[in-house]
Amino acid sequence: MRMLVTGAAGFIGSHLVNTLLFQGNLVVGTDNLGRGRLANLSAALANDNFSFAEAELGVPEDELKAIAAQGPFDMVWHMAANSDIAAGVEDERIDFRDTFQTTRSALALCRETGARRLVLASTSAVYGERDDVLSETTGPLLPISNYGAMKLAAEAAVSAAAETFLDTVWIMRFPNVVGAHATHGVIYDFCHKLLDDPETLSVLGNGSQQKPYLHVGELVEALLFIVERTADEHGRHLYNIGPEDSGVTVAEIASAMVERAGGGARIVYQGGDRGWIGDVPRFSYSTRKLRDLGWRPQLSSREAILRAVDECCREWGLN
Ligand SMILES: NC(=O)c1ccc[n+]([C@@H]2O[C@H](COP(=O)([O-])OP(=O)(O)OC[C@H]3O[C@@H](n4cnc5c(N)ncnc54)[C@H](O)[C@@H]3O)[C@@H](O)[C@H]2O)c1
Repeated sequence: MRMLVTGAAGFIGSHLVNTLLFQGNLVVGTDNLGRGRLANLSAALANDNFSFAEAELGVPEDELKAIAAQGPFDMVWHMAANSDIAAGVEDERIDFRDTFQTTRSALALCRETGARRLVLASTSAVYGERDDVLSETTGPLLPISNYGAMKLAAEAAVSAAAETFLDTVWIMRFPNVVGAHATHGVIYDFCHKLLDDPETLSVLGNGSQQKPYLHVGELVEALLFIVERTADEHGRHLYNIGPEDSGVTVAEIASAMVERAGGGARIVYQGGDRGWIGDVPRFSYSTRKLRDLGWRPQLSSREAILRAVDECCREWGLN
């Protein structure tokens, strides 16, 4: 198949590109290289079945012509978005442009290139802050960050397109995803800090924030599994993807990081029950629907974190 991946040079997009190529697909990747890096695509760029188009999404439709010219496509994987939730709380224009308007661009590219299938990378952040276990039928959805709000709006736009020019859409809600090629997130943040100052690791919040984590390799495996199993059923597919546990705390991640990087740094907590405004400090995900379809991760949150800490420390040259 001929696939378009937006956000291709980012953390998850680059792993997805590699797997789609491995399966024998022809892949065009696009990214504005704002947060994404070409280095993440080094293996793909050496593959004749891959081409890369540096381009801005979230712009007027007639500015998308260069990407559309690379079509036709069978399917679009929309991974591009803002991934700095705190920045989006400070300035709501960021998520409007990079999270919502990029989704409108991905939809316009489907229309222009004949793609009738689209996968949207969505997030647990659409649920907001709730005490109950989050399942696909949980509602009302009241996000507490602009990122979550614009992802929810993106889900709605994608859902509506399934009534007109798209046959099948997949809305995939990811938990926190970790692994090599990270461009943001807790492990990325700790790597940065330890490179700057190997003696002290400053941690946002009081360390008790506890979330489920999925390794990026397993996330990509789950995405492909869901698409393959449900592709014959036209319409809308909505899945939570995640581990089957209640997660690990930021304090545990900080300890694992310090230990892996040489053990010397003193951990200093900034205090407060969350890392930033808009952070959901605790949530519990139901992945029963995905389990019933036949997929479950091999790694627990803790195992995913330990693997990712190791991968990122290697990547960053930390011990
Ligand atoms: N990593 C996670 O923990 C996580 C959790 C839930 C959902 N998601 C979603 O998964 C997707 C991939 O996330 P990621 O972690 O790989 O983040 P990422 O920031 O590494 O990747 C997003 C990519 O989109 C690109 N991009 C952003 N705005 C753009 C624009 N206007 N035009 C063109 N390119 C643009 C960035 O340069 C970046 O390479 C995102 O949609 C994100 O919201 C990620």
